[in-house]
Amino acid sequence: MFVQFRLFKQSQLDDVIEITKRNLTERYNDFVFLDIQKSWPSAFILGMSDQTVAGFICGGISGEKEARILMLAVDKPFRRNGIGTGLITLFEQEAQKVKINRIKLEVRTDNLEAIAFYKNHGYSIASLLPSYYNDGSDAYSMEKILTQS
Ligand SMILES: CC(C)(COP(=O)(O)OP(=O)(O)OC[C@H]1O[C@@H](n2cnc3c(N)ncnc32)[C@H](O)[C@@H]1OP(=O)(O)O)[C@@H](O)C(=O)NCCC(=O)NCCS
Repeated sequence: MFVQFRLFKQSQLDDVIEITKRNLTERYNDFVFLDIQKSWPSAFILGMSDQTVAGFICGGISGEKEARILMLAVDKPFRRNGIGTGLITLFEQEAQKVKINRIKLEVRTDNLEAIAFYKNHGYSIASLLPSYYNDGSDAYSMEKILTQS
């Protein structure tokens, strides 16, 4: 599979919203995506398979030297092809450019696939966040310390 990574453009908003609906359980208003892009455009990255948006990652700077992955999703037919890895690697590189040394994220405690993915990329569970999601489910807070290159 030939995959390219590109920065998100507003013209791709509908594609990103559709991927979110298919792969993530929380629902977001359209303006949320544009606000995230505005606050950190270089870390809002798409994985493209030909002309199709196969997945995306976006995040924000959440404190001094700290960033958060806000959304990461790869559409089912494109999974296990390294797209998630490409997205999180590029995200971490963008974080390092602005001297961030800790990346945090939240993941549902029953999302074993994503937990395995994050562990595979050096993230570890830092704490349990009871009733974190709108439907009352719990989250793990996971984090990774980046080593500055
Ligand atoms: C998590 C997710 C982004 C991974 O994307 P992906 O493109 O399939 O990931 P990769 O192909 O780069 O996988 C890299 C490694 O992560 C681990 N991994 C990924 N999916 C896994 C799964 N279902 N089960 C176990 N390990 C998995 C494997 O070690 C994998 O390496 P391998 O394929 O060589 O064994 C994708 O499964 C997804 O979008 N899930 C639904 C949305 C979601 O849960 N997002 C996170 C919310 S916090």
